[in-house]
Amino acid sequence: MGKKIAIIGGGNLGSAIAEGLLISKFSKSSELTVTKRNTATLRSLQDKGVEVSDNNNAAVKKSEVIILAVKPFQVAEVLSNVKKELTANKILISVVTGVTIGDMETILGKKVPLFRAMPNTAIAIRESMTCISSKDAEAGDVKYVNELFGQLGKIVTIDEKLMEAATVLAACGTAYAMRYIRANIQGGIEIGFDAPTASLIAAQTVKGAAQLLLTKGSHPEQEIDKVTTPKGCTIAGLNEMEHRGFSSSLIRGVVASYKKIAKD
Ligand SMILES: NC(=O)c1ccc[n+]([C@@H]2O[C@H](COP(=O)([O-])OP(=O)(O)OC[C@H]3O[C@@H](n4cnc5c(N)ncnc54)[C@H](OP(=O)(O)O)[C@@H]3O)[C@@H](O)[C@H]2O)c1
Repeated sequence: MGKKIAIIGGGNLGSAIAEGLLISKFSKSSELTVTKRNTATLRSLQDKGVEVSDNNNAAVKKSEVIILAVKPFQVAEVLSNVKKELTANKILISVVTGVTIGDMETILGKKVPLFRAMPNTAIAIRESMTCISSKDAEAGDVKYVNELFGQLGKIVTIDEKLMEAATVLAACGTAYAMRYIRANIQGGIEIGFDAPTASLIAAQTVKGAAQLLLTKGSHPEQEIDKVTTPKGCTIAGLNEMEHRGFSSSLIRGVVASYKKIAKD
């Protein structure tokens, strides 16, 4: 039997995690409880045998692993209300942006194995990049949490002080990649493709490029060298993009996002 998991906050992310855990067979439906105040939107999980509830206390009490997926401003109230049930033999994993392990410790006022995980929206198709940090967690708990998110994409362990940077590169990064793909689609239409064909070509090409790096472990510039013929069209296009500030604008965008999140 796997551990019983309660997902507190069955919204976009909480529901996607539940779906992913079921599809990957990491959890049986009977091992999962998902809570939110309005449970009507959890019908499809309920139909799969997942317990849905508006009772956070009962869900925490019966579970060994608690995944907190509410909005940041809801954390204090939700954790305060369940802290009696959150005993030291349970694991608390927060996927909430901007709420630190220290913040949660202050609310709980006691030691519980605490994890923060920063996934991205590709968790819905089990292709997330999830950055994980923890405090007071035993090796067995760390292994378990890595396996859990490992079912939902790729994972990396980071220091908690890098969580904001992880939010930018992994979570905002999805939006940056989408904008890059959209610009390619617009260019593709201008050079002759209809929108659906341009969309397919642009998205699959980016997926293939990313897969080359992930599979071979090569550096992007090595892969670029393979497609840049001397005096060819690829290098002409790349250099024009760089003259227009392509890499520079991306780096500046990443840093602007970071300054915003680090300040707020
Ligand atoms: N979406 C992402 O890609 C992403 C990535 C990384 C991190 N995050 C973080 O994940 C968290 C959730 O994001 P989201 O996009 O999934 O937001 P969301 O769709 O708004 O989900 C939050 C859910 O919490 C429920 N909720 C509110 N109060 C509750 C309570 N007292 N008890 C139980 N459930 C309660 C809400 O449902 P009811 O109103 O019906 O209660 C809602 O469904 C946020 O903190 C966000 O920063 C999101």
